[in-house]
Amino acid sequence: MPLNPFVFDRPVSPVDLIDRDPEVRRLVANLEGGTNTRLSSPRRYGKTSLLARVLEDVERLGMGRVYVDFYGARTTEQVHARIERSYESQLKGPLAKAFAAARRAAGGGGVSTPIGGVSLPAAGGATERALLDLLDLPLRLQSRTGIRIAVAFDEFQEVLSAADAIDGLIRSVIQHHGDAASYVFAGSHPGLMSQLFGDRGRPFYGQAAPLVLGALADDDLADYIDGRFTSSGRDPGAALDWLLGLAEGHPQRAMLLAHLLWDALEPDEPATEEHWERVLAHVEAFVRDEFEAAWGALASVERGVAEAVASADSGLTAGSTLTRFGLTKGGAPPAASRLEAAGILAVDRSRPTGYRLVDPLFARWVAAGRRWA
Ligand SMILES: Nc1ncnc2c1ncn2[C@@H]1O[C@H](COP(=O)(O)OP(=O)(O)O)[C@@H](O)[C@H]1O
Ligand SMILES: [Mg+2]
Repeated sequence: MPLNPFVFDRPVSPVDLIDRDPEVRRLVANLEGGTNTRLSSPRRYGKTSLLARVLEDVERLGMGRVYVDFYGARTTEQVHARIERSYESQLKGPLAKAFAAARRAAGGGGVSTPIGGVSLPAAGGATERALLDLLDLPLRLQSRTGIRIAVAFDEFQEVLSAADAIDGLIRSVIQHHGDAASYVFAGSHPGLMSQLFGDRGRPFYGQAAPLVLGALADDDLADYIDGRFTSSGRDPGAALDWLLGLAEGHPQRAMLLAHLLWDALEPDEPATEEHWERVLAHVEAFVRDEFEAAWGALASVERGVAEAVASADSGLTAGSTLTRFGLTKGGAPPAASRLEAAGILAVDRSRPTGYRLVDPLFARWVAAGRRWA
């Protein structure tokens, strides 16, 4: 029996990536050309999947590649450990040899050759120095091997919570890398990403070309989903349109729904309304805890705004909306901005309130009065 072809719980492998061709081209061109990029999107829009594809492409073009996931790194030590482990496990061939040689030169443990041109912050201790050395590695690897390196820092916004000056440390080193190394900084939290890259007072201000990953087009989703159903002997029938209508182009939500629909079907039996009902009932178990937790973390005014965005038919500050959702003219807009910074809302001028909830399943749950009607 064929396996369910729809992955919803981990990054997809490069061959399974739907569309994203313009973004792949742009990122490959930037990495090759020595331009640093900041890649933003809501969570689960496919940043990590896209990075895997792009790193595979640049490797084929002869560059070295390193992927570092900063998710959950809270301290300078942890940031250091993430980067070190990534270099250790991912460099290949001459770069791996050069890395080992650099370590031997440093006496086995960390790499600690002094670096020119970088002054340590006054408070910088041994940990900061070790991190600076490590960050400077691509430059030294390139001078030994002639190979340029593409580095992807995923969930980069975590460095803001890791230690206050760590973006300064990182910038102080990589600004000397010229085209020896190019970087992609990916992040899901719009507020933190714009704090990192859009705040004049911060070291990365204006330092990387922006690239935003949007929702997937229904046509691309339909081709992919229909193709995978067909090649695995399943028929999505009319449910394909219902799925696209509910998913609103959200990549992970579309894959989750496709996965559940595939599971609900027998071979060569077209999907019916009954199958679709089963999918809707089943999906609740996947999202309920997450939605309860997300709701629980919202302030009262933010809940009102989320409800308004999910179901109001007039503007956010229209009298009828304010009354219906218990909001005030002064309170609603800043709450909407906070939800936008947190990645829960996105601006959408085609909607009555000017926003939509990023997660279409969450929107449905909120609109139904926090149940799965
Ligand atoms: N281009 C894509 N093609 C197919 N599935 C995708 C795509 N982008 C995202 N997905 C779906 O979204 C999920 C999350 O993708 P991921 O790359 O981990 O997103 P992010 O890093 O932005 O949180 C994947 O498991 C997959 O189901
Ligand atoms: Mg990711």
